[in-house]
Amino acid sequence: MKNEILSQISTECPWRDTLLWYHSLDSTNTRAKALAKDGAAHGTVLVAKTQTGGRGRMGRSFLSPTGGVYLSVILRPDCPPKKLMHLTCATAVAGCKAVEQACGVYPDIKWTNDLVYSKKKLGGILTELVLDNHGVVDCAIIGIGINCEKPKGFPKELQETVTSISEISETPCTAAKLTAKLIEALYEISKTLIVGKQEMMDLYRQRCITLGQEIKVVCGDAVDYGTALDLDQDGGLLVRFRDGREKVVTSGEVSVRGMYGYL
Ligand code: BTN
Repeated sequence: MKNEILSQISTECPWRDTLLWYHSLDSTNTRAKALAKDGAAHGTVLVAKTQTGGRGRMGRSFLSPTGGVYLSVILRPDCPPKKLMHLTCATAVAGCKAVEQACGVYPDIKWTNDLVYSKKKLGGILTELVLDNHGVVDCAIIGIGINCEKPKGFPKELQETVTSISEISETPCTAAKLTAKLIEALYEISKTLIVGKQEMMDLYRQRCITLGQEIKVVCGDAVDYGTALDLDQDGGLLVRFRDGREKVVTSGEVSVRGMYGYL
């Protein structure tokens, strides 16, 4: 499969030379962190056909059967962590672009890290920063998983909220093709991560279906309800809560009414 991926990545993209392909890994993000610790270069790309311990946000697991794309990239940006707040947004924009190019369908984004189609989850993103002892970014790991084939063996409640490329696209699309387009799109985004932030956030805003919706915000033990108004320049979600307070939410779980079983 590695050759199938390589044959579909543009020769202009230098990350074709740093692609590592695995039949199975616990988690491409976990392995990427280990390789980064041993000095792996900026732009090292890890792709696994399946993951046995795929990880999602907030300590959740991410089921990763064969038939999906599971990919992580090691970035070594020379900047403080606060300049990278929008990294998940940038990865989501790249993910949407790759899906469009490979499969001809246009996913939406559920803030902050889900690719969705018809209100069902198509994929997810997990970005992780590794800081040195001085609080400087040693590396950032961007991980993305996209369901290509209809997931088999998912629990029933997940099957109702999850979708895949094969269910939504009439264009034949292999995991290899989507992986190739993803690597190209992530490479493009990485080149303008800081200078192209405004333009990228505009694209994110256009795709973000959370905006304007009634939402539930869960942060630790606290639960609150409100309306998602806008995004700030770093990708934080501006929310007007029921008591009229307006606040930027940067973490926690945001459920959108009418999606993923939240009524
Ligand atoms: C989420 O939905 O909360 C995020 C899911 C992120 C999954 C991807 S798959 C590739 C990379 N490796 C992981 O263990 N997680 C990310």
